[in-house]
Amino acid sequence: MKPITQIIENRPWMAWLIFLVTIIIVFIVGLLASSVIERRAEAVFVNVPKTEISQFEPRNSVWGENFPREFQSYSQTADTTFASKYNGSQMIDMLEVEPRLVVLWAGYGFSKDYSQGRGHFYAVEDIRNSLRTGGPTNETDGPQPSTCWTCKSPDVPRMMQEEGVTEFYKGKWSRLGAEVVNPIGCADCHDSKTMNLHISRPGLIEAFERQGKDITKASHQEMRTLVCAQCHVEYYFDKHKAEGAAYLTFPWDKGLSAEAIEKYYDEIEFSDWTHSMSKAPMLKAQHPEYETYSLGIHAERGVSCADCHMPYKSEGGQKFTDHHIQSPLNNVANSCQICHREETAKLIQNVYDRQDKIIENRNKLEELLVYAHVEAKKAWDLGATEAEMKDILMGIRHAQWRWDFAAASHGASFHAPIETSRIISSGIAIVGETRIKLARLLASKGFNQEIPYPDIATKAKAQEFIGLDMKKLREEKSTFRKNLVPQWIEAAEKREAGYDKNGIRQ
Ligand code: HEC
Ligand code: HEC
Ligand code: HEC
Ligand code: HEC
Repeated sequence: MKPITQIIENRPWMAWLIFLVTIIIVFIVGLLASSVIERRAEAVFVNVPKTEISQFEPRNSVWGENFPREFQSYSQTADTTFASKYNGSQMIDMLEVEPRLVVLWAGYGFSKDYSQGRGHFYAVEDIRNSLRTGGPTNETDGPQPSTCWTCKSPDVPRMMQEEGVTEFYKGKWSRLGAEVVNPIGCADCHDSKTMNLHISRPGLIEAFERQGKDITKASHQEMRTLVCAQCHVEYYFDKHKAEGAAYLTFPWDKGLSAEAIEKYYDEIEFSDWTHSMSKAPMLKAQHPEYETYSLGIHAERGVSCADCHMPYKSEGGQKFTDHHIQSPLNNVANSCQICHREETAKLIQNVYDRQDKIIENRNKLEELLVYAHVEAKKAWDLGATEAEMKDILMGIRHAQWRWDFAAASHGASFHAPIETSRIISSGIAIVGETRIKLARLLASKGFNQEIPYPDIATKAKAQEFIGLDMKKLREEKSTFRKNLVPQWIEAAEKREAGYDKNGIRQ
C-alpha cells in the first residue's frame, strides 16, 4: 500500500474526505457521551427523594412525587380496555355469563353479584358497588364485617396501626367506610424508608408463623411473590379468636393443596354458609391464586408473580418495574419473551389451549353440581332425615369446594394446569358418587324419576329460581350510594387535608 502522504498528493480531495469522516465520528462520540452523562444525571434526579414519606401514608400520589415512573405505570391499572379470551381488565358479570353459579351459591352473597376482577385502581370503588356489601345506612348496619376491607387499600395498614389488628377486624364493613378510600397501592407492598418490598398484612405473617416459618427471612425473589400473597389467597373469618372480631385467617396449617385446606376446614367444622336448597354446609373458595401458582411449573422453576405481572420496562434510559399489574397477555414481549423464544401468537395460544381444556370439564362439574343441589332438595321434600343426608351433604360440600377452588383461582388454568385439571376431575368423581347415593335415597322414598334441570338460562331466571328479591337489593344499594358514600368521601377528604407532609393525622 502507498503511504498516505502520496495518496493525498495524487488525490487532494481524499484529505477533505478523511477530515470530514473524522469530524462526523467525533460528533457522534460526543453525542453518545453527552447522552450517557444526561441519563446518569437523570438517574440521580429520579432517585433523590423529594418528600419524606411515612410508612402509613395511604395516598399513592404522595409516594408518586418521589417515584413518578412507578406511580405513572401504577395509574394505568385504571385502563379497562384489554380483554383476552377469558380474562383481562374489563368488568365481566360472571353470573350473566354462567347463570349456573347463582344456583351453586344459593343462600350466599355471591349469588347476588359476582364480577370478574379488574385493575387495582378500582379496588375501593368495586367493593362499594358490589351488591354483596349491601346497602348499609349507618356505621353498624350491613351484611359484611369490616374485615372485607383488608385487601383493598393502603388505608388498611394505617388503620391497623391506629386501632390494633384485632380491633380492625371488629364491627361492620360500614364502620370504616370513611377511613378506607385509597385503592391498593405503594404502602401495601413497600417499606417507605428503603423502598424494599414489605409485608403489610398480618394474615400472611401469622400463617407463616404457625408453620414455623419466619417471613422476614424470605429471599428477594420470594418477596416478589409474597407481596401478592398478602391478598391473592384463600382465607376465612375466624369468629372464635376474639369476641366480636371476624379475624382474617389463612387455612394453610396442613398445606396449600385443595385437599389440605379442605381437611383443615373439616376438622374445625367450618362452613361459610348453608346452601338454601340442598342444606349442605358449604365452603366458598376466595381466590387461591398463590396456592395454585405454588403447585405449578413456573413456581417450581423460581419464576415469581412479578416476573410475569410486573416485568421490567425501560424509559429514558431508566430500567424500572412496570407497576401496570394486569394480564401478561397484554404485554407478552416484556413478560413471557424474557424467557421464552416463541412468537407472541404461539405463547398466547399456549395459554388459551390450557384454559379451553380446563374450562370444558369445569363447565361439566358445574352442571352436575346444580343437579346435586336440586336432587338433595327433592330428598328433603320427600322427608329424608339428617342422618340419611349427612354423607350426601359432605359429598356436595367437597365436590363444590374443588370446583370453586379451581374456578376462583384466577389464572390457575395457566399457573398450574395439571393441578387444576386434577382438582376438577376429583370433583367430578365425588359428585358422581354423591348422585348415586342420592338416587338410591330418592328411590327408597318411592321417587324413581329424573329430576329435570331447572330453567336457569339467564342470570335473572336463576336468581328468581333461588328466590332472590333483586329489585330490593338494587334499591338498597342505590340509596347507599346516594346517601352514605358521598358522606364517606367528604369525611375522608377533610381528614386527609389535615395530614402533615408525613401522612400522619394531626
Ligand atoms: C392489598 C391487596 C392486594 C395486593 C397486595 C395485590 N393484589 Fe392484585 N388484586 C387485588 C384486588 C382486590 C383485585 C380486584 C380489584 C377489582 O376488581 O376492583 C386485584 C386484581 C388483580 C389483577 C386483575 C387485574 C386485571 O386487569 O384484571 C391482577 C392480575 C392482580 N391483581 C395481580 C396482582 C399481583 C401480581 C400482585 C403482586 C405483585 C398483586 N395483585 C397484589 C388485591 C391485591
Ligand atoms: C402489589 C405490590 C406493589 C405495589 C402496590 C407497588 N409496588 Fe413498587 N414494586 C413492587 C415490586 C414487586 C417491585 C420490584 C422489586 C424488586 O424486585 O426489587 C417494585 C419496585 C419498586 C421500586 C424500585 C424501582 C423499580 O422500579 O424497580 C420503586 C421505587 C417502587 N416500586 C415504587 C412504588 C410506588 C411509588 C408505588 C405506588 C404508586 C408502588 N411501588 C406500588 C411491588 C409493588
Ligand atoms: C422468568 C422466566 C419465565 C417467564 C417470565 C415465563 N416463563 Fe414460561 N417457563 C419458564 C420455565 C423455566 C418453564 C419450565 C420449562 C423447563 O424448565 O423446561 C416454563 C414453562 C412454560 C410452559 C410449559 C409448561 C406447561 O404449563 O405445560 C408454557 C406454556 C409457558 N412457560 C408459557 C409462558 C408464558 C405464556 C409466559 C408469559 C405469560 C411465561 N411462560 C413466562 C420460564 C418462564
Ligand atoms: C409465568 C407467568 C405467570 C406467573 C409467574 C404468574 N402469573 Fe398470573 N397469569 C399469567 C397468565 C398468562 C394469566 C392469564 C391471563 C389471561 O387469561 O388473560 C394470568 C392470570 C392471572 C390473574 C387473572 C388476571 C385477569 O386478567 O383477570 C391473576 C389475578 C393472577 N394471574 C395473579 C397472579 C399471582 C398472584 C401470581 C403469583 C402468586 C401469578 N399470577 C403468577 C401469568 C403468570
